[in-house]
Amino acid sequence: MTNQKMLRDDALKGKTIVVTGGGSGLGKAMTRYFLELGAQVAITSRNFEKLEGTAAELESETGGECLPVQCDVRENHQVESMLKTVVERFGKVDGLLNNAAGNFISPTERLSPRAFDVIIDIVLKGTKNCTLAFGKHWIEKQQKNTTVLNIVTTYAWTGSGYVVPSAAAKAGVLAMTRSLAVEWAKYGMRFNAIAPGPFPTKGAWDRLMPGNLQEKFDMSKKVPLQRVGEHQELANLAAYLMSDFSAYINGEVVTIDGGEWLMGAGEFNMLSEIPESLWDQLEAMIREKKNK
Ligand code: HXC
Ligand code: NAP
Repeated sequence: MTNQKMLRDDALKGKTIVVTGGGSGLGKAMTRYFLELGAQVAITSRNFEKLEGTAAELESETGGECLPVQCDVRENHQVESMLKTVVERFGKVDGLLNNAAGNFISPTERLSPRAFDVIIDIVLKGTKNCTLAFGKHWIEKQQKNTTVLNIVTTYAWTGSGYVVPSAAAKAGVLAMTRSLAVEWAKYGMRFNAIAPGPFPTKGAWDRLMPGNLQEKFDMSKKVPLQRVGEHQELANLAAYLMSDFSAYINGEVVTIDGGEWLMGAGEFNMLSEIPESLWDQLEAMIREKKNK
């Protein structure tokens, strides 16, 4: 495992990147690394005070330029005005990281229609609002070499009980990623996604692992590598996909989960629990049946 920074110091120099939900958790970690690599970054979310605090902290830590902009991604007019603010301040924008999300665990039958909507609205509609605004802006300006990076999760393709609105919304984001990677490539835009496994953050763990669930369900035990992710590991991948080093990667979803979803999927993966000493006996039993 490494917490080291992967790319060379100027890998994002000259780029302006918007990170939605950049005031906390993984968005904050990715923003920190983008700033360290020379990008100018605008962070957006609903809570302006939180954004201001994060921007000040990251600016003093990295020496970079970080602009806090209040914007609820569910509201199209707020997204339009956020884009305008960013372009006025930095002159242009090159990258969009759709990271903002809402989620909580719940048996689906307990959800009101509004509870289902709120997740779809933040995750799918929010990503749509930002993507449409930025995409149309880039088309109108004839600006090439632009990138949209979407944060999804592995249950975007496996599905998952107890987070059904999130699964449905993330699946939609993944479909949008792959669709626009083809349709808008002609305008010089690239679309990729990252599917993280468990990376502990306060925002996610308060809503997905409340109370003593953390002790009851140790997330690291679900991962073949027997650990959760480090924020810098995700930041390294996001910076690479935002940078020109990944210029030929388009329409891809990169999983970073220590093998977690495959462990759940493989028919016989439960056999990891069999102690080494039992295999001689099991092999003998299998061989014995050969000619019977
Ligand atoms: C059932 C709930 C509920 C719960 C809210 N609701 N919490 N229903 N169980 N635990 C219902 C409310 O009663 C209401 O419906 C509707 O949802 C909207 O709730 P509000 O509180 O008014 O919404 P809002 O203030 O907009 O807050 C949105 C939120 C909140 C999603 C509910 O949790 C939030 O702000 N989240 C942002 C950050 C976040 O979620 N981060 C985690 C991302 S982690 P009614 O009908 O009563 O009006 C992630 C990880 C994925 O995505 C993969 C991990 C491995
Ligand atoms: P987080 O800290 O709660 O991040 C979510 C961010 O989204 C917050 O900063 C929040 O800020 C913002 N947000 C929520 N609703 C918004 C809205 N309507 N408009 C604008 N911003 C909004 O949780 P996280 O763990 O870092 O999650 C970041 C991303 O990683 C999400 O896409 C999540 O699905 C994904 N992910 C996380 C994990 C994990 O293990 N942590 C695993 C897989 C995928 P405000 O409250 O200020 O608006």
